[in-house]
Amino acid sequence: MNTVALIGAQWGDEGKGKIIDILAQDADYVVRATGGSNAGHTVVSGGNTYKLHLIPSGILYPDTINIIGNGVVLDPKVVLEEMDALGALGVKFDTLKIDLRAHVVMPYHKEFDELAEKAKGKNAIGTTKRGIGPCYADKCDRIGIRFVDLLQPEVFASKLKTNLELKNKIITAVYGGKALDYKSIYNEYCGYAKRLEKFACDTGVMVYDAIKAGKRVVFEGAQGTLLDIDSGTYPFVTSSHPISGGFCAGAGIGPTAIKEVLGIAKSYTTRVGAGPFPTELNDEVGRHLLNVGHEFGTTTGRARRCGWLDTVILRLAARINGLTSLAINKLDTLSGLKKLKIATHYMLDGKKTDSFPADISMLEHCVPVYEEFDGWSDDISTCRTFEELPAAAQNYIKAIEQLTDTPVSMIGVGPDRDQNIVRTGNK
Ligand code: GDP
Ligand code: IMO
Ligand code: MG
Repeated sequence: MNTVALIGAQWGDEGKGKIIDILAQDADYVVRATGGSNAGHTVVSGGNTYKLHLIPSGILYPDTINIIGNGVVLDPKVVLEEMDALGALGVKFDTLKIDLRAHVVMPYHKEFDELAEKAKGKNAIGTTKRGIGPCYADKCDRIGIRFVDLLQPEVFASKLKTNLELKNKIITAVYGGKALDYKSIYNEYCGYAKRLEKFACDTGVMVYDAIKAGKRVVFEGAQGTLLDIDSGTYPFVTSSHPISGGFCAGAGIGPTAIKEVLGIAKSYTTRVGAGPFPTELNDEVGRHLLNVGHEFGTTTGRARRCGWLDTVILRLAARINGLTSLAINKLDTLSGLKKLKIATHYMLDGKKTDSFPADISMLEHCVPVYEEFDGWSDDISTCRTFEELPAAAQNYIKAIEQLTDTPVSMIGVGPDRDQNIVRTGNK
């Protein structure tokens, strides 16, 4: 492993934080390149649970360089709050670098996120209300404020003034909201700039040099493939590219720089927010997955929607990301279910389909076709090799490999960094 990209293969919350933390033990660099504080990555180590939103998940290792790349939308308030909370637990930030080109999430982005969701009514996306979509919209509109701008008071003042004039008109005239105050935002953000200045860096150059020097680099995916703005379940997606291709733009590297792409998936499927979900279960099994899997959002605390594993989704993830292997987390959550199901394909208007339709209204009519498997009742949380797993659990993993044509190289049997089975040679 010299360079490996970790990608959410479903709708996010697949347990990326845990796997990144495991790989970070041997990594020189951990690089976040997409999304923002909408992400919530959990790392459980030494009896502590760390919930990371913007800080890369390699931060617990003092010698690993942790990079927030240019493709991330940086909320300075959130990142500083996160640093204060982690700092109180003894975490140090000498290894943190933030790219100068990263766009900054402003208070009006969060206001817009809130107001736009409200205005959409029953068509709301169910965003995290962290201002992600509006910040990326300004980036594409070429009016965004970048970290490099924030660090120059005069440039920042001018850009903030121009932006706020326009945003306040929209907030008041279109949404009937209350205008935001220039002076208080300016002062607040200049305070953030002072604290964050020392982390500023051209991280693209740093990552390039590291790869050239043969250093071990882990690219930390946020969100998941089905939340991708192009390939996901549009419009119920996020506003970035949480796929392997997103690392090129978001970390400033070429595609040949990534040697391995590890797709992270749960042994079942979850999603937060609105939008179609073919294998969703609103029954006792769904409640088992919710309660035994503690499926509550890391960022918003919302209950996650739960359903059977869907290999139509995993094949899409394998294709779009060029997955070299899969990590299947939360196999332990399935313990105790007598029968397990995996969706192999869908039926749409009486016809078999094994790819995701582009039209979201068609996806709503897709009926999953399942293959059934025996469950197991044993506690598997202490298993550390594939052979120690009950035969039914081994079969379940082998079926995933067969249905996705992708090897499973890691299996999660609990939230702790130790509760993981590595299948060496299986990737
Ligand atoms: P991320 O956004 O992909 O990093 O995932 P989240 O942290 O939002 O959600 C995953 C949850 O599952 C967290 O609470 C993890 O601690 C937990 N988790 C990760 N892997 C496993 C596993 O193998 N078994 C169990 N029981 N929990 C896990
Ligand atoms: P991690 O990195 C799960 C979802 C939101 C909503 C949609 C758009 O922890 O896996 P946004 O605020 O991005 O505009 O919301 O995307 N979403 C996530 N769901 N995990 C995440 O991140 C998510 N980040 C965004 O719930 O449906
Ligand atoms: Mg999460």
